[in-house]
Amino acid sequence: MTELTIAMPKGRIFMEACKILENAGFQLPDDMEETRKLMIAIPEENIRFILAKPMDVPVYVEHGVADIGIAGKDVLLEQQRTVHELLDLKISTCYIASAGLPNTTMNEVAPRIATKYPHIATKYYKEIGEQVEIIELNGSIELAPMIGLADRIVDIVSTGRTLKENGLVEYEHIADVSSRLIANPVSYRLKSVRIQEMVSRLRKCVQ
Ligand code: PRP
Repeated sequence: MTELTIAMPKGRIFMEACKILENAGFQLPDDMEETRKLMIAIPEENIRFILAKPMDVPVYVEHGVADIGIAGKDVLLEQQRTVHELLDLKISTCYIASAGLPNTTMNEVAPRIATKYPHIATKYYKEIGEQVEIIELNGSIELAPMIGLADRIVDIVSTGRTLKENGLVEYEHIADVSSRLIANPVSYRLKSVRIQEMVSRLRKCVQ
């Protein structure tokens, strides 16, 4: 059986990603969700998992050190990497939206947008014909309008709790997000039987 290396996103998506793999019949170690190990081998399946930051999953897959991976559509839209998107797993669903303080309009001269998705934000405001300055942050994006750093944020909304608890409201819905199974194009060719088998097992578990 050909060996497969799978890049898994640590953090929020991880549990749901493990669950769908288990539903598809992959035997994961009992401590998969608690371990601090970054590489986990499952010899019976001839699979090796690497546990990466969600933003880094497409990097490992593009470089071919992972054959396949599970990545959020937000990350794929942001990075535009050369990977094949094989399947929408329909897990970890959320969306990208713009948000800001209630009843505010954007500064007419130089509106500022805080985000950890500079590419998505730039593309969106270009499409709607707004000239904006993008301020790239790494997290806690909701702080930006509260302390006067930005007019709007472009960020993920899942339950909406972070916006609500920080007194922000949504303005525009930008894109729907869910986790996708992605593949390195060369692996997809060389290991097609193995990868296709995995896709069909997972497809049956997509709800
Ligand atoms: C994400 C996102 C929002 C929040 C949305 O942040 O950037 O802040 O989750 O979720 P909610 O709608 O359910 O409240 P994350 O927790 O990943 O942390 P971050 O601030 O470091 O980006």
